[in-house]
Amino acid sequence: MKLSLYVNGTLCHSEIAPGTTLLEFLRGKGLMGAKAGCDTGSCGLCTVWVDEVPILSCTYPAARAQGKHVTTIEGMRQQAALLGRYLAENGSEQCGYCSPGLIMTVLALEKEHPAATDAEISAYLAGNLCRCSGYAGQLAGIRAYLNRGKGALE
Ligand code: FES
Repeated sequence: MKLSLYVNGTLCHSEIAPGTTLLEFLRGKGLMGAKAGCDTGSCGLCTVWVDEVPILSCTYPAARAQGKHVTTIEGMRQQAALLGRYLAENGSEQCGYCSPGLIMTVLALEKEHPAATDAEISAYLAGNLCRCSGYAGQLAGIRAYLNRGKGALE
């Protein structure tokens, strides 16, 4: 089928095979930020936005994105770099494989709940798994990022 959608603000027309997932489509276009982890909608590594809402692209049929606006981490470079700096400053930079999905989820959280409590942050990120260690460093980095401009690291 023919698929027309916006990817990071650019209109894109492609021929896709039936059953193509949005993750396969995006990676096939060279956008390698979203990662394949579980491929079953359980780990959050493949998180991208469709019409500004975070979704798991490994289980999202590409055909469903017809006419929609898809945003990947490649389209959020500046915000992602800033958040990545806060994560690194708080010791949560690890293997990095889960970072793009985590970052896309945190940026969505920031839009939805800019004053989220630690409990709300943890609940929002429940679907983003990290296998390197615990989540204390990530939470500290996200908290510092959300608090920036309030006397925190700039
Ligand atoms: Fe999509 Fe794990 S790869 S949720």
